[in-house]
Amino acid sequence: MKRETVGQTILAATILCIVCSIIVSTTAVVLRPIQKLNKIQEINKNILQVSGLFDKEKSFDDNMKTFEEKVEKKIIDFSTGQYVSDIDTNTYDQKKASKDPVQSEKVPGDQDLASIKRRENYSFVYLVKNSGDKVDQVILPVRGYGLWSTMYGFISLDYSNLKTIKGITFYEHGETPGLGGEIDNPNWKKQWSGKEAFGEDGTVSIEVVKGLVDPDSEKAKYEVDGLSGATITSRGVSDMLHYWLGENGFGPFLNNFRNGEKNNG
Ligand SMILES: Cc1cc2nc3c(=O)[nH]c(=O)nc-3n(C[C@H](O)[C@H](O)[C@H](O)COP(=O)(O)O)c2cc1C
Repeated sequence: MKRETVGQTILAATILCIVCSIIVSTTAVVLRPIQKLNKIQEINKNILQVSGLFDKEKSFDDNMKTFEEKVEKKIIDFSTGQYVSDIDTNTYDQKKASKDPVQSEKVPGDQDLASIKRRENYSFVYLVKNSGDKVDQVILPVRGYGLWSTMYGFISLDYSNLKTIKGITFYEHGETPGLGGEIDNPNWKKQWSGKEAFGEDGTVSIEVVKGLVDPDSEKAKYEVDGLSGATITSRGVSDMLHYWLGENGFGPFLNNFRNGEKNNG
């Protein structure tokens, strides 16, 4: 039997490596758009959940149809609080923008309540038409640091007063399951519905307290129970809302609405 030379063995190994790397890179390229779509659909599912439109009985595709029918995706400029029309809502990558020095700005330390370091110049907002043609909720993306991670989520406000919270949800975080990870607990999230985000004077007043909310307290309508053993995550949730609902976040946008510009949408 003819023995293979060392050169032939190296050649065979090299060819095998090249073929495998072509297969792996082709697979990665082919799958990238699918992964991107899955990520967007997962976010859309969270938006449906926070708005109360997600229907467990329906298929994923039917829920996505509901999203298309009932949720209008818009982009705003943080500095003016106005809608912009020259950015494509189908291609804008807000997470990427938040890390890009051209599309974001540094948040000064004394303003960085959410510990985000940079804030993108433009943000998605979602207008929800739950019943009929009238917008009844506005959903805002929020994020901020907990104990271990940046927590990404959405808060939904009642469109009629832009004060009352309809819901909150988190779709990405790295907090400890059973401790900070309880931000995903449906029973904890349920409490947010009906709470007031802003006080009478318009300042952001919503707070995750340490321990339980005293129902007899005057402040109860601005308070949510703390997560037991997870005060740092709880504080992170409060701080992120103070940042994003405040003047350096969606404050100007919400003020435009309050000042009667709803019809611009
Ligand atoms: C392994 C480990 C994981 C923890 N994960 C969290 C967490 O996700 N969020 C959090 O706020 N605290 C977490 N903690 C607890 C914090 O270190 C801190 O004790 C806690 O936030 C204080 O909350 P408390 O005052 O309600 O006890 C963790 C502690 C340990 C040892």
